[in-house]
Amino acid sequence: MKKIILDCDPGMDDSMAIVMAVKSPELDVLGITAVNGNYPVDVTQKNARKVLELLDKTEIPVARGMANPIIRNSPGDPFTHGKDGQAEANLPEPRMALSDLDAVDFIIKEVKQHPGEVTLIATGPMSNIAMAMRKAPEIKEMIPEIIAISGMFGLNDYAFMNATGDTPQSEWNVYVDPEAAKVVYESGVKLTALGLDVATYFDVDFTEEEIQKLEKSDKKEAAFLANAIHFVRGRGFGAYCTVIDCMAVAYAIDPTLVETIKAHVGVETKDGLTLGMTVIDRRHHFVWEQLPLVNVGKKADCGRFLKLLLDLVLK
Ligand code: BDR
Ligand code: CA
Repeated sequence: MKKIILDCDPGMDDSMAIVMAVKSPELDVLGITAVNGNYPVDVTQKNARKVLELLDKTEIPVARGMANPIIRNSPGDPFTHGKDGQAEANLPEPRMALSDLDAVDFIIKEVKQHPGEVTLIATGPMSNIAMAMRKAPEIKEMIPEIIAISGMFGLNDYAFMNATGDTPQSEWNVYVDPEAAKVVYESGVKLTALGLDVATYFDVDFTEEEIQKLEKSDKKEAAFLANAIHFVRGRGFGAYCTVIDCMAVAYAIDPTLVETIKAHVGVETKDGLTLGMTVIDRRHHFVWEQLPLVNVGKKADCGRFLKLLLDLVLK
């Protein structure tokens, strides 16, 4: 089993990413670390606990993380995941306690306890991970890989789809905390960045039959997903919005689901039209070889991704 920490900002799609990770027999979830992003951290940590209670997996720790980006203020997310941040599923208030450690210390502790073994999956802004790297730089040598929903690389037409209030060239997670993303991209840790190119995809949709299967299932997580699909469709969005972050978990389970390329990438941290842009050097210009080499998602096998997701949700 691959040991993982899921660093997230639930968010309905982060909530589904938690469901997938916890139910996957391939992954050993050491903990969920919540961060400010789609919602303030006290909403996201609560939502993470709500999902674990729904799954009856309250033994998995949830740690509260950074309430703000590492140096700037947080923008508000205009693409609302609903009043509760979970497509108005209105799950019961969580009773399980938060971890005594905050997310930054939790990440440091777990990585040091299992050197070389803990993959970080990041589906929110990278504030927690960047702070952990700043506080304990030695952990960088001990992290085998970070798999992130991060960036936009212009590798296909989907790259231009995003409903969040970022810039025309950025993706929400990088836009919220570009300085944190820069720290992580430049950390030297192997980074697989699955950006909007592969994580927002109109090919991912659910058939009426699949939705009915979700509705008829006795699994609460299946009902949660069905509700989220109706919620986003009712607001004129594609159903893929409900599962964007699941692609990072799917990749951790089966890396053959996404074709990647290696590319030098820089993160724009200057304010303005391109704040948060993940600039890819497609000309292979030697001057820009100084930029970190990142494993960038180019094309996802959406059919196999959806099957994996639905099998896990319904099992
Ligand atoms: C991100 O947008 C958010 O709504 C999702 O949670 C995801 O992490 C992709 O830009
Ligand atoms: Ca997210």
